Amino acid sequence: MKPVNIGLLGLGTVGGGTVKVLKRNADEITRRAGREIHIGVVAARDLNRSRICDTAGIRLTTDPYEVVTDPGVDIVVELIGGLEPAKDLVMRALDAGKHVVTANKMLIALHGNEIFAKASEKGRMVAFEAAVAGGIPIIKALREGLSGNKVEWLAGIINGTCNFILTEMREKGRDFRDVLKEAQALGYAESDPTFDVEGIDAAHKLTILASIAFGIPLQFDRVWTEGISSVTSLDVAYAETLGYRIKLLGIARRAEKGIELRVHPTLIPERRLIANVNGVMNAVLVKGDAVGPTLFYGAGAGAEPTASSVVADIIDVVRTLTSDPENRVPHLAFQPEAISDIPI
Ligand code: NDP
Ligand code: HSE
Repeated sequence: MKPVNIGLLGLGTVGGGTVKVLKRNADEITRRAGREIHIGVVAARDLNRSRICDTAGIRLTTDPYEVVTDPGVDIVVELIGGLEPAKDLVMRALDAGKHVVTANKMLIALHGNEIFAKASEKGRMVAFEAAVAGGIPIIKALREGLSGNKVEWLAGIINGTCNFILTEMREKGRDFRDVLKEAQALGYAESDPTFDVEGIDAAHKLTILASIAFGIPLQFDRVWTEGISSVTSLDVAYAETLGYRIKLLGIARRAEKGIELRVHPTLIPERRLIANVNGVMNAVLVKGDAVGPTLFYGAGAGAEPTASSVVADIIDVVRTLTSDPENRVPHLAFQPEAISDIPI
């Protein structure tokens, strides 16, 4: 069977990590996908910049539209971030008959409804495991592993940058700004780190999780959002003295009149598992009516942990491409027509 051709948009932290993992684990990936996966073309802004991956044998371009219109590309992997041109590129890729994999939580949280509708119309897949909690396969867990449950609530540490900052402030007494700079240098933070420290990135992710867990539309504007920018070293130290840790949590739960969605710093007793999730690690607790409480833990940001999710999505899409189209499992997070009308 001929190889599947990937067109990659972006060669930064996640794009570079994705190329590394695809190349390093090529044999395993081919076996699991059932077909060889070839990186055909990659777009970045500056082709002279040094990269974390080896780009030998890959065609590079500064024009992302060249990638989405390339007739040889089967799957477009969007890793440039932001709303535009990312949204336009994804829509054009779908129009051109490509399947899409993305790590862009802002794009899915704000425009997912429109993107999924286009994907359905075109019979194409949009996969976004890497958009929430980096390397933790929480989208697949909610959509597949827990799909027999009525989810009662979920709560999680879903921003690695904030958790890294709060951990370093508590363990080493470091200054907020210094740690944020380090998180940026390590590639954890968003290109505008305000999204991290003001809780907006966590709110994007919570919007996506809640949509899948409760079968509701993506409604970012319904999330109460408060970040950690006003948390001081003194707050962290006082909390410690009282036996608590401060964590930025995203919480979604069934309430009397719908689903409550909120992101804010929270005091957690230090004996609780989630209080001991440190550094860039993320953790998501999900309470299902059948399974009871479950906990998913892993690296929430960074090149290879995030690439792990991107590559898993690529493999899923390739497997589906290879399967009998008559029996193809819909790959969208939820079927837009099946969205229940739970008010938020
Ligand atoms: P980076 O800033 O490291 O990389 C972005 C890449 O996109 C760069 O290679 C840049 O090129 C390229 N790019 C940007 N605009 C254009 C354009 N108009 N045309 C062509 N190339 C362009 O971002 P990340 O890798 O950190 O993040 C990518 C996405 O993944 C974002 O949506 C982010 O939210 C998400 N994400 C990030 C995680 C992380 O840990 N960093 C984890 C989970 C999700 P150049 O390098 O030349 O400037
Ligand atoms: N900036 C994000 C974080 C990247 O720190 O969690 C992973 O989504």
